[in-house]
Amino acid sequence: MIPNVPLDRRGVLASAFAYAFVSCTTSRSEGPFAPVAIPPLTQNADGLGKVKRFIFGSCNKQYLPQPLWKNIIADEADLFLWTGDVVYADTSDMGKLSQVYASQMGQAEFGRFLATRTPTIGVWDDHDYGENNGSSTYPKKKESQKLFLDFVGEPADSPRRAQAGIYTSYVFGEGPEAVRFILLDTRAERIEAGLGQAGDMLGKAQWAWLERELAADFAGVTLVVSSIQVIPFEQKFEKWQNFPESRTRLLDLIDRSPSKNIVIISGDRHFAELTLLKTKSGREIWEVTSSGMTHAFRNPDDLRNHNSLRVGPILDRLNYGLMDIDSAKRTLTIEVRDLNRTAVIHQVIGIK
Ligand SMILES: [Fe+2]
Repeated sequence: MIPNVPLDRRGVLASAFAYAFVSCTTSRSEGPFAPVAIPPLTQNADGLGKVKRFIFGSCNKQYLPQPLWKNIIADEADLFLWTGDVVYADTSDMGKLSQVYASQMGQAEFGRFLATRTPTIGVWDDHDYGENNGSSTYPKKKESQKLFLDFVGEPADSPRRAQAGIYTSYVFGEGPEAVRFILLDTRAERIEAGLGQAGDMLGKAQWAWLERELAADFAGVTLVVSSIQVIPFEQKFEKWQNFPESRTRLLDLIDRSPSKNIVIISGDRHFAELTLLKTKSGREIWEVTSSGMTHAFRNPDDLRNHNSLRVGPILDRLNYGLMDIDSAKRTLTIEVRDLNRTAVIHQVIGIK
């Protein structure tokens, strides 16, 4: 038996055998794993001009086949966005976490995507952060932050490496054609509700930053990216509604924002759905959830997955999201596609 061998069939096999040898000779029952360097991403998003099409996805097990990359390559996006669980590590052993990222970088299908040099940005969720349903108490969050940012090719001198948490924003293009991504960190500064405290999803510094971002009158399209679902409030799993004050605060910020075209993107659920919230002020807030690049939750039951604000079908097979921004027609097309590249979820909304 090889205890806690990194779950990969390719990249870390050699180190797994090396570990097994060490393990057998020392009779240790588990780690620590030796850290390995994560091969650099071929292209980060710095210097990218206009974004007319981008693709997003989440929940990607590094040890499973990854058949969606060939579709993603064929769909020729300007940008790829990870929306969490980019690998499954669930560990506080940073040697193991680095090996998991390295094994994803060595994954053959992903390698073909990397070869296209598509600029890539992203956020983590819990399994890549290092702890299932993890929060600010996870002991290795600083070290894990470095490894995640290495994985997404964050420049060495980026301020994102010095702050608490991986939240950040990007603007591609200018004026009404511009596309802004506001990437939230729902883990590093999250405080679980406890005796006498309500709990908080983002932490003080991130809230202050987010308020500044959403106070701007942004002419183009804004995508607010959260690893876990924001609007769906009835499902029984992780969601912003588990922190009701934080959810209300975020939705109020979006509702009051002078930026007119704001759409939420989330992952985590292992199926895909589209949700629409109409606020009291008359604003429509769309949320697209795409999750399950390597594994999907078939036939999600309505008891645990109810969403009275859902629009259209669910997609309970492997999926990835895609958006087309047509600044001439003033439309935003939201899709979630399956293994056949069929857009099972398809919605066109107007850009104001
Ligand atoms: Fe996941």
